[in-house]
Amino acid sequence: MSGNMIHSGLEGVYIEKSSICKVDGEKGKLYYRGYCIEDLAEKSTYEEVCYLILYNKLPKKKELEEFSEKLKRERTLSKEVLEIIKNMAAKAHVLDTLRTAMSAISADDPEPYSADESVNIEKAIRIIAKTATISAAIGRTKKGKEIIQPDNSLDHSENFLYMLTGNKPDREKTKLIDVMFILHAEHSSNASTFGALVACSTLADIYSAVVAGEATLKGPLHGGADEAAVRMMESIGDPANTEKYIDEALAGKKKIMGFGHRVYKAYDPRAKILKRYLDEIDGNDEEDINKLVRIALTAEKIMIERLGKSHGIWPNVDFFAGPLYMHMGIKPEMFDTVFSSSRTVGWCAHVIEYWKDNKLFRPLEEYTGKTDLEYIPIEQRR
Ligand SMILES: CC(C)(COP(=O)(O)OP(=O)(O)OC[C@H]1O[C@@H](n2cnc3c(N)ncnc32)[C@H](O)[C@@H]1OP(=O)(O)O)[C@@H](O)C(=O)NCCC(=O)NCCS
Repeated sequence: MSGNMIHSGLEGVYIEKSSICKVDGEKGKLYYRGYCIEDLAEKSTYEEVCYLILYNKLPKKKELEEFSEKLKRERTLSKEVLEIIKNMAAKAHVLDTLRTAMSAISADDPEPYSADESVNIEKAIRIIAKTATISAAIGRTKKGKEIIQPDNSLDHSENFLYMLTGNKPDREKTKLIDVMFILHAEHSSNASTFGALVACSTLADIYSAVVAGEATLKGPLHGGADEAAVRMMESIGDPANTEKYIDEALAGKKKIMGFGHRVYKAYDPRAKILKRYLDEIDGNDEEDINKLVRIALTAEKIMIERLGKSHGIWPNVDFFAGPLYMHMGIKPEMFDTVFSSSRTVGWCAHVIEYWKDNKLFRPLEEYTGKTDLEYIPIEQRR
């Protein structure tokens, strides 16, 4: 036994001071740069939220127009990046292709690393704009369809949905995809942001940090949870089976994807916002999506009864996201691209903030192996 305190999963450990995002896990509140997520989701736009997160203030009209123009100018991809997507996307996981394409984007930047904040904000704008185009191109290639060029008459998230699905979204879907982007834009020191911070703390460039974020987002305990949740809903199959499925899963100590959170011990405010959208589409889509919506709404009630108040395990943003993505024509294997396209701004803002007072991440581990073993030549080993 040693006296070292092991902070498994870094639970409860503060790693930096940040003014970007506050997650109040006890009260179920979320703020970006001081503004509550409910106001931003209802009254703002994703482009404005990006400006807010990067510049730490809400833009004036002209500032927002210039910012939108910059995003538009950066939307296109080079032939080389498109080739990478075409060669990889059909067989690889979306995030594997995304991080490879992001590495290629950095090759076109003659000076990927800069210590200058304003230069890095310009790089962030470039990365945010191109990530959406890459993500949509991955989706098109996966389906064996032609890649669609950006449409500069459309806003960022609306254009993403258009490039991905091939359909110009109506007003309802334009608002919904924008809300999705806003809700996923930032979430303090979650696993992928921490991954990006570890990379940037070595003074690697902002592209490398974003690639680290994308790599870390992939797993089902983080970015993959929305896909896992919708796969679970598909396997439940019928709303009438939901209660039996959940009770058997819990009895078998299986986790229900889309519930629980390391920080939120109350209802995730993002999930609350999405539930309102789900209530609105309940019964108004094609039969298979209506079923998913019903299963989600039934599962929410049952899980709150079983684990909500008693165990602090509430729905998180990933639980309701899946059926809403399906409603917008986004298939489960593409969910991660929405998440990573939205979250890129958060990663970049954290990297830029962290570099103001950079400290290399280098935690310790408690060694539990042996020491001073005798080296036996290979011929003598039994
Ligand atoms: C997000 C998550 C990893 C955070 O959990 P954590 O802080 O690491 O806590 P643990 O995974 O150790 O869970 C603590 C307890 O709650 C239970 N629990 C947590 N999430 C659960 C879920 N979704 N369904 C059922 N039980 C759950 C665990 O089984 C564990 O029970 P035990 O103490 O009896 O062993 C976890 O809630 C989870 O795996 N959720 C499902 C995946 C998901 O939705 N991820 C997206 C997060 S935004």
